[in-house]
Parts: sequence; structure tokens; C-alpha cells
Amino acid sequence: MFIAWSPKQHCHNTFHAQEATAYPKRYPHAMAEKPNNWKIQTQIVQSGRDHFTSGAPLNPPITLTTGYIDGTNRGYARATNPSWDAAESTIGKLENGQALIFSSGIAAFSAAIELVPVGGKVVMGDVGYNGIDRRLKDLSESKRIKLVQVLTPNLEQMLHEAKDADLVWIETPTNPTMHVWDIAAICTATNAITVVDNTVIGSLGQSPLDLGATISMHSATKQMSGHSDLLAGALITRDEQVFEKLHGIRTLTGGVSSAFDSYLLLRGLRTLHLRQERSSQNALEIAQRLEKHPKVSQVNYPGLATHPQSDLIAKQMTGFGSLISIEIIGGVDDADQVCSRTAIWSHSTSLGGVESQLERRRKWPNEPVKVAANLIRLSVGIEDVEDLWLDLDQALNSI
Ligand SMILES: Cc1ncc(COP(=O)(O)O)c(C=O)c1O
Repeated sequence: MFIAWSPKQHCHNTFHAQEATAYPKRYPHAMAEKPNNWKIQTQIVQSGRDHFTSGAPLNPPITLTTGYIDGTNRGYARATNPSWDAAESTIGKLENGQALIFSSGIAAFSAAIELVPVGGKVVMGDVGYNGIDRRLKDLSESKRIKLVQVLTPNLEQMLHEAKDADLVWIETPTNPTMHVWDIAAICTATNAITVVDNTVIGSLGQSPLDLGATISMHSATKQMSGHSDLLAGALITRDEQVFEKLHGIRTLTGGVSSAFDSYLLLRGLRTLHLRQERSSQNALEIAQRLEKHPKVSQVNYPGLATHPQSDLIAKQMTGFGSLISIEIIGGVDDADQVCSRTAIWSHSTSLGGVESQLERRRKWPNEPVKVAANLIRLSVGIEDVEDLWLDLDQALNSI
């Protein structure tokens, strides 16, 4: 069953109606219905729990199986696994749509790209997560798609190319340069499938589906799960046909999440709002201090008043996230030195975990050349902000 929705509805206050029905039969004192006005913070803690069956576990169990005894619509575990259900319904609630989880963000991306007909036109910016950038270039070279990359963040060019596209890939803000695309303007200008990679800000700070996007995509490896201990991806949509197609693609291409990873993802989701609140507070404070640091020439963070797209940011985002990038006064060797001199900030790749991480992005061969060679990406965690600052400050001062 697919939920009813309205684009104007506030996405955090709706509730999947089908969940409200079964409880009283099993638990005589249960409320007739779960309240439908719970805030999202309540929903992500409560979602997927069976409160009203005597003896039921507080957490949905991990179901390790390849198949199911005949007689229901559960057939083979590549198509369905009860272990996915709670994570999917929770992620769906975050953006008031219906969610599918995948084995990684790239698996989610790969499923979405399968919606493009052979030879179809895909438009994206010339900067964004390097794995997706590389893969789209590969697909273009093999003629699976026709790729057009526009200058980031040139909206005029983007709108022009989006007009006759089959799919527009919108990563906003871009990892790691933190450029912002106007989601509503792009979605209005095209009939193409629009996919917003919402990984960097996350569902609590940006709602692409409310702005007209067909699909909101996440690397759930990052802030959604939040503990740097699993790979996962998610696609959320309000379009029932698109959902069904994506479900079929996932089943037949096989990028499914393991039962254990789905459980860990759900466990991480329970604290998403707390982690996000702290990490973004820390990030704002650190970004503001970095702006005044004598060894830093450029700070990219959407929460800064100096961000060149601050009007658009105010219009489309309610949170600023935990990702910052900086350019230092110095070259590649200096940037590498900063990354190797910290004790708290872990010199490692990825983002969105509870622990702070940093790295020079161009050390990766696939990183778009638009990213400055001395750019350091900082993923801010939930540690004490003064400890984080002292550690970073001494590393910067070492060059
Ligand atoms: C913005 C963005 N999208 C997608 C991905 C890919 O996700 P995953 O690593 O979970 O496959 C990443 C990974 O870093 C990312 O940063």
C-alpha cells in the first residue's frame, strides 16, 4: 500500500496509516491508533517497533533467511526481508515518501540510473562525489547513457541542459566544494527524473521531495547510520510507479542490504537527530573559526554568512550539516602534513560518522579536477568542540 501525500504537507508530521491498524487485536489495552502528529524525532525512535504484542522484543529481530514458507507475498530474500522493513519505513518517514535500502550508496545510485533508457541523456554538475562522477563518465564512454556535465553551480546552463534530459543528477551541496543547486528551479524546468543526492545535508536539513524531486538518494553509510561501521544506500520517492520500478531493479540487480547491516542502520537512525544537531553545531563553530585562521585561505560551509549562495541556502535548507572544506595557504605537501598531524581528527576517508575525519580529497585519482589540489575535507563529529579546535589549530599551525 502506498501512502497518500501532498507536496505542501509538512513532511515530518505524517505517519504511515497501515501501521496503525493491527495492534488492538493483539494487545487489548493498546491505543486504537498511533497518534499521527508525532514529531519526526519521536517517529524515528518509535518506528518499526511492535509495542503491543505481549512478549514482543523491543527491537525488530534480524531475519537471517534466503526464503519464506509459501503462502504470503514474501518469496525470495533478494526481493524482501523483514529486516529491511523498519529501516525503510523510518527512512520513508524522514522525507514523507517510500524508501528502499541498498547495499551501498553506489548501489542505490546504480539502481536509479537504470531508470534511464539506453542512450538517454543524463545531466549533472562537473563536481560531486567522485565515485558517481567516474561511474557516469564510464557509462557515457560505453554509450549506455549520454552524459552532459555543466559548470557548477551555473544554474542557467543546468536549466538549459535539463530541459530535454532523461535524468538530472543533482548533488547539493556538492561533496566536497559545498556548491548548492536550486532544486526547485531545476525540477520545475524539466520533465526528466530528478534525483537529489541528499547525503551531505541529510533529510533533517533538506527535503528534496518537497521541492519537486522525483527521488532523494542517500549514502546511508554516512550520517544516517552514523557510526562508520557499515555501507548502505537509500532511495526515497513519492512516485508509486518509480518506486515499483526501483524495487524491481533492486531485486534483479541484487544490491540488497544484509539483514545485519539493515539492523545497524536502524540502530543508527534512532539517534540521527541528536548526532546531527551536535555535529552541525560543532561544524558551524569550527567553520567560523577557520575563516579567521591565518593558514586558511578559503572555507566552504553552507552555514557561513559569507557563502556565495547564502540566499539559496536560506530558501532550500533548514540545516547546514557537518561537512566543511578548506583550502590552506600552502601546497599539496602542506595539506598532507596537516592531515597527518592531528590526534583527534582521524586521517581517513568518508564522512557523517560520530568521529571527526579529515583528508585531502585530490589524493584520490577520480576526484574531479575542479577540486583544488590543496583542499582538505573535514567531516565534523560529535566530540567536544574545543578539543576538536585545539587539535586542528595545532595541525594547521605546523605548516
Ligand atoms: C555524496 C555521496 N554520494 C554517494 C556516495 C556513495 O556512497 P557509498 O560509499 O555508500 O557507496 C558517497 C560516498 O562517499 C557520497 O559522499
